[in-house]
Amino acid sequence: MILLNPGPVTLSPGVRRALAEGADLCHREAEFAALTRDLLAGLEAVYEDAQDYAAALLTGSGTCGVEAMLATFAPRDRPTLVAANGVYGERMAEMLRRQGKPLLLARSEWAAPIDLEAVRRLLDARPDTACVAAVHHETTTGRLNDLTPLAALCRERGAELLIDAVSSFGGEEIPLATWRPLALAGTANKCLHGIPGLACVLARRAALEQESGHAPSLYLDLGGYYREQRNGFSPFTQAVQAAQALHAALAEFAQQGGWGARRARYQARTDRIRARLAALGVAPLLPAGESAAMLTAYLMPAGRSYEALHDSLKAQGFVLYAGQGPFHGRVFRIATMGEIGATDLERLETALTEFFA
Ligand SMILES: Cc1ncc(COP(=O)(O)O)c(C=O)c1O
Repeated sequence: MILLNPGPVTLSPGVRRALAEGADLCHREAEFAALTRDLLAGLEAVYEDAQDYAAALLTGSGTCGVEAMLATFAPRDRPTLVAANGVYGERMAEMLRRQGKPLLLARSEWAAPIDLEAVRRLLDARPDTACVAAVHHETTTGRLNDLTPLAALCRERGAELLIDAVSSFGGEEIPLATWRPLALAGTANKCLHGIPGLACVLARRAALEQESGHAPSLYLDLGGYYREQRNGFSPFTQAVQAAQALHAALAEFAQQGGWGARRARYQARTDRIRARLAALGVAPLLPAGESAAMLTAYLMPAGRSYEALHDSLKAQGFVLYAGQGPFHGRVFRIATMGEIGATDLERLETALTEFFA
């Protein structure tokens, strides 16, 4: 089965081997500590300009990483503004509500870019806003949010930028030296090609060294992870097998040329699928250049059902992804991460042609 959903991904033979053949490890032993230190170094090396940043590794899915980032860095007594244009922006707002933290919400239409003017107006009204949180790749629509103007606005207003980079970490450019986010959250099982079970947060080292005192949760307090993981140990039991898989995945990531090469590979696959679907009269939701390399949302042609498309492709070994919320039934999504070979791509083009022609 080739997974064309936005994570988990189809595994490479090397990651599969690491899972099948990895030693039984206790998370309190030196071997696992060494593995953890390697993983942290690998995560900190994903972007070249991360010298001021340190990684923390948590057992949980991407949501766990995002929630830990907000738990640790969003203050209890000053607002955090969420710029939302999809499911995952809305989810960050919900996390802040549940953490009982003051929230400002700048909503846009889900197919639209972040509403920078709305953000500016809210910051004018609440100059004490401490953080601005945004999603980099809003996987709901495939939109790659341009965070450069938002980061500049944050700097101008003295607010810290927090990024949900769950579906872009390792597969898109994240210019840390320019955006200067306080933190960003990622996951093992999307552009890094590991398995589900581990999330990471990259945060400015200086911020992790201070006790933030903001976290309403023990498990999600990144300070504890940072302090203990410097020695390779974690405050709680880690997903050992997921860590072994991520170790192999990060080695492949580096060998294959890092995020730039990975992005180029995703884009080449996406371009081919986009061109084939265009020839079949199936249009993308967003214009070229506004989508992330790893995922495109396509408009379902009138009279065709997502379920029929899904089932037809699944019968041929491909898993597609439905639209979320208001896009349910109106769009379908195709992600291009993971182990997808040239013949897989040819078979996919044939399967799409057979369905839509
Ligand atoms: C941008 C973004 N944030 C957060 C998540 C949540 O990740 P998970 O489902 O691994 O908890 C996803 C999942 O697709 C995502 O795309």
